Amino acid sequence: MKSFSERMPRLGTENAFSVINKAKKFEREVLAPKGEKLIYLQIGEPGFDTPKNINDAAVKAIEKNMTHYTPTAGIPELREAVAEYSSRNACVNYEPEDVVVVPGGKPVMFYMLNALIDPGDEVIIPSPGYPIYGSVTEYLGGKVVPIALREENDFNFTSDDLKKAITKKTKVIILNTPQNPTGGVFTKKLIEEIAELAIKHDLWVLSDEIYDRIVHEGEHFSITNIEGMPERTVLLNGCSKTYAMTGYRIGWAVTKNAEMAKYIEQLACNDVSCTNTMTQFAALEAITGPQGSIEEMRTEYKKRRDLMVELVHGIPGMHCKSPKGAFYLMVNVKEILDKLEISAGKLCDRIMEEAHVLILPGTCFGHFGENFVRFSYVSTEANIKDGLAKIKKFIETIYK
Ligand SMILES: Cc1ncc(COP(=O)(O)O)c(C=O)c1O
Repeated sequence: MKSFSERMPRLGTENAFSVINKAKKFEREVLAPKGEKLIYLQIGEPGFDTPKNINDAAVKAIEKNMTHYTPTAGIPELREAVAEYSSRNACVNYEPEDVVVVPGGKPVMFYMLNALIDPGDEVIIPSPGYPIYGSVTEYLGGKVVPIALREENDFNFTSDDLKKAITKKTKVIILNTPQNPTGGVFTKKLIEEIAELAIKHDLWVLSDEIYDRIVHEGEHFSITNIEGMPERTVLLNGCSKTYAMTGYRIGWAVTKNAEMAKYIEQLACNDVSCTNTMTQFAALEAITGPQGSIEEMRTEYKKRRDLMVELVHGIPGMHCKSPKGAFYLMVNVKEILDKLEISAGKLCDRIMEEAHVLILPGTCFGHFGENFVRFSYVSTEANIKDGLAKIKKFIETIYK
C-alpha cells in the first residue's frame, strides 16, 4: 500500500473526544456491572435543550421540502440576518456578502487557515486554548507560537508577550474571548493593544467569539469594533453555544475582506457544497426570533458557576479564579500534582477511576495548561454537588 500524505501525521485532534471514549469504556466495563455511573463534568456543550421555536423552524423547513442544496455561502435571508447580528459588536455595518455560512464554528478555522498558511508561516495561539487552532496550523505546515494565558491576569495574555511572539514570519493571531478552556474574557484594553500590533505588523486575526453571549461579568468586546480591523479579521461565531444547537452544525465567517470571504466560500464549496438547509432555517429563527432563552441559560450557568467555585475551594490543593465567561472552570492543581509527582492527565485518570468523575487535564489544551484541570459547569446542580463531593473525598485521602 502506498503511504499516506506527509502532512497527515501532523493533524492533531480534540483530545477531549479520546478522553470521553476511554471514560465510556471504563463506565461500560467496570462501573456498569456494579450498577455505578460516571459523573460527567467535562462536557463542552450547553446543558439545555434547543429552544422550541428553533426546533419548530427546522421541522417546518422539512415539511416545506426545504431539503435541497442552497447557495454555498448560505440562504440570502440568513446571510442578511448574520450580517446584522454581527454588526452589533462592530465598527462597521457588515453586509450579506461579508458572511459565509458554514457547518459550525470549526470549519471557519480550517478554511481561514487553509486560505493563509504556507509552510513556515507562524500562527500565534493562546495557550491553554482550543486545540484545533494548533492542529490545523501544523497540518498545513505552519508553526504554532503559543502565548500564555496567565491565571494571575484572569487568563488574559500580556501585550508584552504578544510583542515578543511576533516575528517576520507571523501571519495570523488567533483570539478567543470568552475563552475555552479558561472562561477568561479579554479586557478592552488588551484587545486594543492586540489590534494596534496587528495593524502595525500587517497581520490577520481570527477572532473566535463563539461564547460572546455567555458573559457573566463585564461585557464582551469584539476586535471588529476597532477601526482597521474588520478588513483583516475573520469573525467566527455560530449557534452552537448561544442557542444550544451543537448538533445542528451551523456557524459563520464574517469579514470585510472580500478576497478572504471568496476563498472561504470556495473552500466550503469544495468541502461541503453548502450547510444543511433546515439547519439554516433553524439558525435564522434563532437569531431573529425571541432571545429570552439566552439570558435564562446564562443566569442558570452563573448560578452553577458560583456553586462550583465554592465547592472547588473546599477541596485541599485546588484553587481557581471565578471565570467571567463561557461555562468552564480552570482549576489550579499544581500543589496536588507536586505532592503526588504526577501529571494533570494522570490526576484526571485517577479521579475517573477512584472518584468516578470525568474532568479534563489542562494539557488537552496545550503546554501552558499543565498545572490545571478543566471542569465544565453545564451539568445539573445535583451532578455538580455529587461530583465535587466525590472528588473532595478522594483528594482528602491523599492529604491524610
Ligand atoms: C472556542 C471554541 N471555538 C469553536 C468551537 C466549535 O464550535 P462548533 O461546534 O460550532 O463547531 C468550540 C467548541 O467547543 C469552542 O470551544
